[in-house]
Amino acid sequence: MATFCSQLHLNSISATITTSSSSSSSPKSSFRFKISASALPSSNSKSLLIADPQPVFTSVKTFAPATVANLGPGFDFLGCAVDGIGDFVNLRVDPDVHPGEVSISDISGAGSKLSKNPLWNCAGIAAIAVMKMLKIRSVGLSLSLEKGLPLGSGLGSSAASAAAAAVAVNELFGGSLSRSDLVLAGLESESKVSGYHADNVAPSIMGGFVLIRSYDPLELMQLQFPIEKDLFFVLVNPEFEAPTKKMRAALPKEITMSHHVWNSSQAGALVASVLQGDLRGLGKALSSDKIVEPRRAPLIPGMEAVKKAAIEAGAFGCTISGAGPTAVAVTDDEARGREIGERMVEAFMKEGNLKAIAMVKQLDRVGARLVSSVPR
Ligand code: HSE
Repeated sequence: MATFCSQLHLNSISATITTSSSSSSSPKSSFRFKISASALPSSNSKSLLIADPQPVFTSVKTFAPATVANLGPGFDFLGCAVDGIGDFVNLRVDPDVHPGEVSISDISGAGSKLSKNPLWNCAGIAAIAVMKMLKIRSVGLSLSLEKGLPLGSGLGSSAASAAAAAVAVNELFGGSLSRSDLVLAGLESESKVSGYHADNVAPSIMGGFVLIRSYDPLELMQLQFPIEKDLFFVLVNPEFEAPTKKMRAALPKEITMSHHVWNSSQAGALVASVLQGDLRGLGKALSSDKIVEPRRAPLIPGMEAVKKAAIEAGAFGCTISGAGPTAVAVTDDEARGREIGERMVEAFMKEGNLKAIAMVKQLDRVGARLVSSVPR
């Protein structure tokens, strides 16, 4: 079994791994975590009298959408959510799970390689982080994950799992945490997997376009794309793995002043274009990155030809989605989006010898959400 996240340094949380039967599919024998005494309220008699939050539902189902991070020049600080594809989490109160613990009972869909140890699984890490924020200590939870997104695809797969899990725990206990709290929980998860970047998990939780203005403290700005405008993302995912850690390792440690000036102006133009609903401007800025894309594109067979094919087919712009290997192009017409997708798929095969699939998707303006719930 692959370990999804190699290390865990959650402040105030101690890991208690029950290894009675790691291979069993029984939820009771799955890996678990436990919040240590230091994560609980201080042990004076007053705080011990304060009950921890109780669930308002017996179970919840949540969905979190796929995301396109970077959007060209917005490396680590711009991203958006796309509709119709993503991950689901089912979370339920489970009297068979020790109070204060979470157990991953099942992973289905594209996630068969993932660990069920919540300490090594992005959904598990985010769920633990939210339980810690809420100070849950008298209820045990079982989580099952339906992976709709392929791993290592550049579509924010790990972030969608983390977002769906964070929202599920919050909703189960009454939804008291803010979206930025949930982004922080998701960020804790992302940092274990690929690096400390919120440009997938923030839009997956918040929906729409999100600008990460600051990481310390976390400051997020939602960018409103005009509701009346049509925007279609052509997402072309080749059969090729581009692990985010590897794709980050390929980046330059330093950049020239002229590249800084160029990319900053393009990122500014991208934000202005989003706010104005200017699709041509958005596409032009999307295509313009001179720092990250030139280092990563050569690592993805056929990517340069795919971008060329997208533009020739009428896309307003094209770049690598997140760390890749998915390519993303933008257009204002769904039918043209399908044609652009076909040309991009052909280019991946012709120039990269890679099979690829194309999807045409719109902006997800909602973000991670409750799908259903069972009241207590
Ligand atoms: N900003 C991140 C990167 C996104 O490009 O490495 C990863 O999906």
